[in-house]
Amino acid sequence: MTLCEISPETKEEIRHYPVMHREVLQLLDVSRRKIIVDCTVGGGSHAHNLLESAEDAYLIGIDKDQESLGIASQRLEPFNGRFTLIKDNFSHLDTILEKLNIKGVDIFFFDLGMSTYQLTNPERGFSFSQDGPLDMRMDRNSFLSAYDLVNNLSEVELESIFRKFGEERFARRIAHFLTEARKREPISTTTQLARIILRTVPLKNRNLRIHPATRVFQALRIAVNRELESLSQGITKAVSLLNKRGRIGVISFHSLEDRIVKHTFKDFSSKGNLKIITKKPLSPAREESEENKPSRSGKLRVAEKV
Ligand SMILES: C[S@@+](CC[C@H](N)C(=O)[O-])C[C@H]1O[C@@H](n2cnc3c(N)ncnc32)[C@H](O)[C@@H]1O
Repeated sequence: MTLCEISPETKEEIRHYPVMHREVLQLLDVSRRKIIVDCTVGGGSHAHNLLESAEDAYLIGIDKDQESLGIASQRLEPFNGRFTLIKDNFSHLDTILEKLNIKGVDIFFFDLGMSTYQLTNPERGFSFSQDGPLDMRMDRNSFLSAYDLVNNLSEVELESIFRKFGEERFARRIAHFLTEARKREPISTTTQLARIILRTVPLKNRNLRIHPATRVFQALRIAVNRELESLSQGITKAVSLLNKRGRIGVISFHSLEDRIVKHTFKDFSSKGNLKIITKKPLSPAREESEENKPSRSGKLRVAEKV
């Protein structure tokens, strides 16, 4: 765990729109809360709203991306003295809070996936719409990048990642084409990978609304960052650290994440530890989905500690 160093060089204009921000404030019932943990603070847009709405609250903002924390520290400047930013994986929530001597939390919030900042920076390699290195690491100190997976895993391992984390129906075919292509030269950029996938998926099977590389990129990102593993560890630890009547809210962006949230909440609820507030997950209102297209797939689930 490292406390975030404020990065004065970050002049980046914040362009991340906090998804379902009104619903988050309302369902987390923030106004009289004291300790809030934003487990995915990113550029700090949600954290800003949380601190503004809960006037007496202290916020711990966690993210494994140092650059995002630099942006958050600037965004949250008006609340200096009321927050701490920490570079770490939220799967380590227990040790993070222990070191801060925090024994109970009133609100845990998770806003999963990538921030606009990460997605639109070609250097980070998350998007195939701009050319960049095949990276996809949220934590740039971590060992494995998408380049390592694409160029070193066996055909069978790649197929399994594309199927499991991308639910990609052409997983076998794409894995085969990739392993053939990398014999000629390493696959080192986002657009190079996207072009190979595009050639792989038969024309008649292409969905005109979704680029054929979308699911493979999602799968690689999930694998590189071990996202599903961290998620289930993070939520489980969060529930055990919640104060009585404390609330936990999670916004997920694809069915694999949502399934984990739903089942973890259900398990705790059947043991009598959680009351589920959102019987069905909330989606963004029509105006929000129209204004901010990436928000469309967002699903918010909220539960309360019993
Ligand atoms: C959708 S963005 C959050 C945006 C933020 N809520 C805001 O309003 O600006 C998701 C963030 O979660 C971070 N993240 C994803 N998995 C993480 C993990 N296991 N531990 C810590 N941070 C994580 C990413 O680096 C990214 O910055």
